[in-house]
Amino acid sequence: MKMAMEVVWGQREGEDRFRKIFQLSPNLMLVCRWNDFAILDVNNAFLESFELEKNEVIGKTTLDIGFWVKTEDKLNFIRKLAKEGTVINYETVFKAKDEIKVGLLSAEIVNIDNKSCVIVIITDITSKKIFENELMQLELNNILLEMAASISHEVRNPMTTVRGYLQLLRKKDEKCSAFRNVFDIMIEELDRANELITEFLAIAQKRSYEIQTINLNDIIKKLFPLLQAEALMESKFIKMELDDIPKLPLNEAEIRQVIINLVKNAIDISPVNGFVKIKTENREEEKKVVLSVHDQGTGISPENMAKLGTPFFTTKENGTGLGLAVCYRIIERHQGSIEIETSPFGTVFKVIFNYE
Ligand SMILES: Nc1ncnc2c1ncn2[C@@H]1O[C@H](COP(=O)(O)OP(=O)(O)O)[C@@H](O)[C@H]1O
Ligand SMILES: [Mg+2]
Repeated sequence: MKMAMEVVWGQREGEDRFRKIFQLSPNLMLVCRWNDFAILDVNNAFLESFELEKNEVIGKTTLDIGFWVKTEDKLNFIRKLAKEGTVINYETVFKAKDEIKVGLLSAEIVNIDNKSCVIVIITDITSKKIFENELMQLELNNILLEMAASISHEVRNPMTTVRGYLQLLRKKDEKCSAFRNVFDIMIEELDRANELITEFLAIAQKRSYEIQTINLNDIIKKLFPLLQAEALMESKFIKMELDDIPKLPLNEAEIRQVIINLVKNAIDISPVNGFVKIKTENREEEKKVVLSVHDQGTGISPENMAKLGTPFFTTKENGTGLGLAVCYRIIERHQGSIEIETSPFGTVFKVIFNYE
């Protein structure tokens, strides 16, 4: 029993190599006994993330160290492990030094030192989750504001008509003249509603118009580490191919969002080990700058092509269907256009900006 608590690792060559990987892995890793879940070993990444010393962990269970936030997550995880002997990327919330995090748990039942043990690998995806939520929020805000703005326009037209008739009746119709003050109130109320809409539209428009003269390449270079991290999480890669291009009048936050959305879609559709290329090109004779995102995905069917950019159109299980809708609106505001070339071997999204 005491032996098992201390010496987890056998001396055979394979096991020794595994122990090195275990210690050096940036993922949080732990080994526990299968019968009572007592923790036999954890790696440095685990200890750092939990801010614990090794002796505070060994012999305890994940329950003892307050790992699980939801009991049913633990039960489902163990049930799956018992049934299949292995679990891959089980998403769960967990607690590390009082912080709630999101992780992907992979585990396998193995034999170490002739005992049934479980090796658990935890990939911390908390920052990825936060990033995705923020992006989703931004996209939703954008769409809602656009929708509200167009509804406001639509509401105004009938209001103008009603106001016109009220004014006419108030002046011309003898039967109505007795109710003159009632007509005045109706007209005033309409004017008030109209003012509210004007104010709202002013806010909605002001928000999105901060145009600066910037080099698109600089925005791409700044975003690159973030995009690369996103891609590497899924074992995919990003290349840049930046041409000498003139500065353009751009809203930096919006263009960032376009690039992120296009590259995220390209990453989503890429095969493992696939490349996504972000390219800029100066078409001097046409006075155009072209930003393109190339992927090695499976292409887009003609049927789906027609639906691209419609809010909430998605073919992904966890998609929002807002990314492209936002891209189209942003590029429209920049007086640019989007062109798509697609084949079963991949897709290119081209964003075309004009300059004088
Ligand atoms: N590079 C691409 N290759 C293939 N399909 C794509 C690509 N980009 C977008 N799509 C399709 O367009 C749909 C809508 O994309 P988007 O608006 O970004 O929403 P989401 O990514 O949330 O699904 C996707 O679900 C996918 O079917
Ligand atoms: Mg998307």
